[in-house]
Amino acid sequence: MFEITGRDAAGRCGVLSINGRRLETPAILPVVNPKKMLITPRELAEMGFQGIITNSYIIYRDEGLREEALAKGIHALLDFDGVIMTDSGSFQLFRYRRVEVSQREILEFQDRIGVDIGVMLDIPTPPDVPASAAERDAGETLLRAEEAAEFERRMLLTGTVQGSTYPELRRRLASRISELGFEVHAIGGVVPLMEDYRFAELVRLVMPARQCLGHAKPVHLFGAGHPMLFSLAVLMGCDMFDSAAYALYARDGRYITPSGTLRLEELRELPCSCRVCSEHTIAELRSLDAEEREKLLAEHNLLVSLEEVRRVRQAVHEGSLWELVERRARAHPRLLEALHALHAHSDYIEALEPVTKPRAFFYTGAESLLRPAVRRHLERLGNIELRGRELVLLQEAEKPFSRSYRLSSSRRYHICVVSQVFGIIPLEVEESYPLMQHEGLEVPEEAQLRHMRRAVDEYAAGFERVHVHTSLAEVLNVEGEVFESHGEFRADPDPELKLRALADYQFGRGAGRMLFSSARAEYSRQGMLRRAYSDEGELLATLRPEDGVLVLTIAGARRLLRLPPPMCRVVVDEEAERFVREGRSVYARFVKACDPAVRPGSEVLVVNGEDELLATGRAVLSAQEMLELGCGVAVKTRHGCR
Ligand code: GUN
Ligand code: ZN
Repeated sequence: MFEITGRDAAGRCGVLSINGRRLETPAILPVVNPKKMLITPRELAEMGFQGIITNSYIIYRDEGLREEALAKGIHALLDFDGVIMTDSGSFQLFRYRRVEVSQREILEFQDRIGVDIGVMLDIPTPPDVPASAAERDAGETLLRAEEAAEFERRMLLTGTVQGSTYPELRRRLASRISELGFEVHAIGGVVPLMEDYRFAELVRLVMPARQCLGHAKPVHLFGAGHPMLFSLAVLMGCDMFDSAAYALYARDGRYITPSGTLRLEELRELPCSCRVCSEHTIAELRSLDAEEREKLLAEHNLLVSLEEVRRVRQAVHEGSLWELVERRARAHPRLLEALHALHAHSDYIEALEPVTKPRAFFYTGAESLLRPAVRRHLERLGNIELRGRELVLLQEAEKPFSRSYRLSSSRRYHICVVSQVFGIIPLEVEESYPLMQHEGLEVPEEAQLRHMRRAVDEYAAGFERVHVHTSLAEVLNVEGEVFESHGEFRADPDPELKLRALADYQFGRGAGRMLFSSARAEYSRQGMLRRAYSDEGELLATLRPEDGVLVLTIAGARRLLRLPPPMCRVVVDEEAERFVREGRSVYARFVKACDPAVRPGSEVLVVNGEDELLATGRAVLSAQEMLELGCGVAVKTRHGCR
């Protein structure tokens, strides 16, 4: 029903299937007012929208619309064959504090008119109310959620998290709601925050709720209609949005761009090439009568929103969502603060973030240093067991560093480059993503110098001696014996040292010892490590050139299996054993247990309950997702083991 097709940060791309209809996520659902259609649902479908959201309460309260909806169904009423979600009247509750319908009545009505995704009648609590009021409303919303979840229906049903401006309350309510069996989850009560540009608070409230909603169901963020928020919301793990903004702004003469909103009077140019902006000049738009102008503005606003959603989906697939969010954060200081607030949750995000991506890591500014990938790298360095006794610190050079310097680490000298983005890069692991695959500045910024100093201080602690190149000694002011020429550190390449470091870095502490204690290496003509063999000449692993990932053979996997469980394991149900041994992929519903360190892109050992090797492969989900998702592929099997 909801299948995940791509992952980046805590965000995902997916497909929600319902009643033979498909909604690709992240999705933006334009709000359609059933009484006044500025742009008809048919026009929305032609523009490329796969879903819309309308209000079942408005239809229910209007006798003509109600009877028509009951007679021919919501899709015929609106003349739209895509996914239709309907809100329940909660928004009216929020505005007027009361509605003339019970939850049961509005749920029954949504289901009877053939809605694809219905919404419970939650109680949207505004921000900043006293804690007691937020608690009381949340308690009532939970009771209603329990009632709604029991309701027999054909439609998918949405359970909404409230909790005003209380993160703990949102966390608690989200945990309860996630246990009730809704097909869709929503985070509500945040429209006033967005209207007031309180984006950092939005992050502080959405993240705890999002974390407790789990990974199996799509999550809707109510009211996130402005495209400047889409990438941020998706990075946090939201899958769906509704936009009334396109119409509200159009009525107000406002022109949406992905980085903000402009008044039509302010515009001298149309910075867009959508249908509206390419077929009209700014003068024409101004001279139109109000109604026509409103419609054209609404159309432009919708098209730029759709374009941004597509840009976000592309970013998820190629692994550049952080870059997009960091770029968007430059549009407004409140968005930059939201990005800063996000870094408080980087443990959660790191646990979901792929270990390798199709695109290089691009440094966009000091915030990039706080991405989970940077912290993860510094933590993984701690896994390397075997390294030289004396630390040698070099400045950055053209990559690969070992080729630029014609150096490699030895049992005496552990040679590292001090990196303005990753802090420390030992030559042994320089091929590993994203170390080789990143772009930084020519000259580091002040924040980077501090970052480098900190990384060096922490890393240098475990060595007998530290040798620092003179240029670094000046810029970084780090302690050590200063040298000018690196020639004295030259030694013959030591394949065991390198292979073991790569394995420890990728698979965890001890992996190198298990895999490569006696191994031979094969190098490419350019001198890059390519394959590792056992002493008996059996191929153990290949180093993938694009991202420096060690890909195991079955022989290699057998050696790695000597690591204590659950390291590197994905344990599958016996039902799937035969298929996996034949080399078929592992579906999430057959995963019984999993090493918590598994991330999308991790190379893993697939085993049965007796810890017997069934296959090796590449995880496409994180550990948490594998255990929670009911459908989709969890591990792409590379080699089965008969
Ligand atoms: N529309 C905007 N905010 C909300 C909300 O919190 N709940 C519901 N059901 N609809 C909304
Ligand atoms: Zn346009």
